[in-house]
Amino acid sequence: MTSEIGVGLIGVGTVGGGVARALIERKEYFARQVGAPLVVRRAAVRDLAKPRSVDLAPGILTANVDDILGDPSIAIVVEVIGGEEPAGTYIRRALAAGKHVVTANKELMAKSGPELLAEAHRRGLDIMFEASVGGGIPLIAPLRRDLLANRITSIRAIINGTTNYILTSMAQEGTGYAEALAAAQQLGYAEPDPTNDVEGYDAAYKLAIMASLGFRTRVRPSDVHTEGISRLEAVDFRYAAELGYVIKLLAIAERTDGSISARVAPVFVPQPEPLAKVDGVFNAVQIVGDLTGTVLFQGRGAGAEPTSSAVVADILDLAHSLVLGSRERKYWDPEGDLPVESMDHVETRYYLRVTVGDRPGVLAQIAHVLGDHGVSIAAVNQKEANADEQTAELVVMTHRARESAMQAALASIRKLAVVMRVSSFLRVEG
Ligand code: NAP
Ligand code: HSE
Repeated sequence: MTSEIGVGLIGVGTVGGGVARALIERKEYFARQVGAPLVVRRAAVRDLAKPRSVDLAPGILTANVDDILGDPSIAIVVEVIGGEEPAGTYIRRALAAGKHVVTANKELMAKSGPELLAEAHRRGLDIMFEASVGGGIPLIAPLRRDLLANRITSIRAIINGTTNYILTSMAQEGTGYAEALAAAQQLGYAEPDPTNDVEGYDAAYKLAIMASLGFRTRVRPSDVHTEGISRLEAVDFRYAAELGYVIKLLAIAERTDGSISARVAPVFVPQPEPLAKVDGVFNAVQIVGDLTGTVLFQGRGAGAEPTSSAVVADILDLAHSLVLGSRERKYWDPEGDLPVESMDHVETRYYLRVTVGDRPGVLAQIAHVLGDHGVSIAAVNQKEANADEQTAELVVMTHRARESAMQAALASIRKLAVVMRVSSFLRVEG
């Protein structure tokens, strides 16, 4: 057996604590698999006085990251603090010091992954980031390696557990958004500041990473059209169910011949589809390859144990390469920089809920505007007339139409004197 491989942890929170526990508790098994013992030499945190979920030997914890970055006996640095900075600087410094890196940082990898990977490969090192997308679900390795022979044409995913938990509560318990969010926060599923999750940014980071790897092009988070769930109302979940749909925050990336599109938004999903059945904090990712057809990955996208499973797998992979004396595995470089289509080109069906004056001819005016813009109505229903206010709600389902046509029609509908407001507008992605 080769001599020990030193590991340095930057961060001992939810994920870092789980990683340290696994490395300590499964030490012998990992040593047998890798061919060398793995030893956590130092672990950096901000606050040395904070209680930890793992018992680390005295002298391991430090508040000084230099104790890791400057320690020549540490070969693998694990960054599990999150955010762009100082995580980015620490990773660059680790590479400059000749250390391999494992990270769970979706924001950093989505924004700067290609540059960081190029820097690592210039130095004959690797950055592994399985935990950055989908927690314990294997996704990065399949996209980097197992699906490489394919031309991937589509990625459709429920990739944020917090929002999926909130949407499942709203659908199954009939609760409003604020109530469902508060319950998720109480259970620890949603952060005190839930913006990153509920506004779709977390899902956009993860989609940018998956689409970049899957389509072998550069997809930046800013390329992803992003809408969150915070404006959804309980009534739309009821109407969705009546119409045979569920509402899910879907992350969708598609590749056509010369371009790609990427979007994150709450959408109607037909009830029979596999993604419609993914509830609570679970994640699922459906990838279509030309050789494989559709493959579906499903599981726990967050939490100490599932996420540590992904981080530790990356550590073991790197450690095994070190034992074998091999250089880094080839990173399958982007093949080009495919243009990203604007939302205007996307074509779906649509669900509209419009609050109107309850008067004769209103429906005809709305139908006329949609028709003028080439948007064909598939079904329409008048809901919940309010006798006091003399208003009614019209629910319209359309046939497939271009987003540009639909947006133009919406702008005209909003201008109609009989329309109080367009209360809801959701794409139907089935
Ligand atoms: P967390 O519980 O907040 O832990 C963060 C850890 O980093 C803490 O130990 C903190 O120290 C330490 N830290 C923060 N800034 C630091 C700095 N400047 N120097 C040294 N230590 C610092 O976060 P987490 O949930 O484990 O998430 C870590 C990463 O994993 C993030 O990139 C996240 O997106 C990703 N991730 C998390 C999950 C999940 O389920 N939680 C799932 C997938 C991916 P103190 O403890 O002293 O404050
Ligand atoms: N905040 C993320 C989620 C977990 O709710 O899915 C980490 O990726």
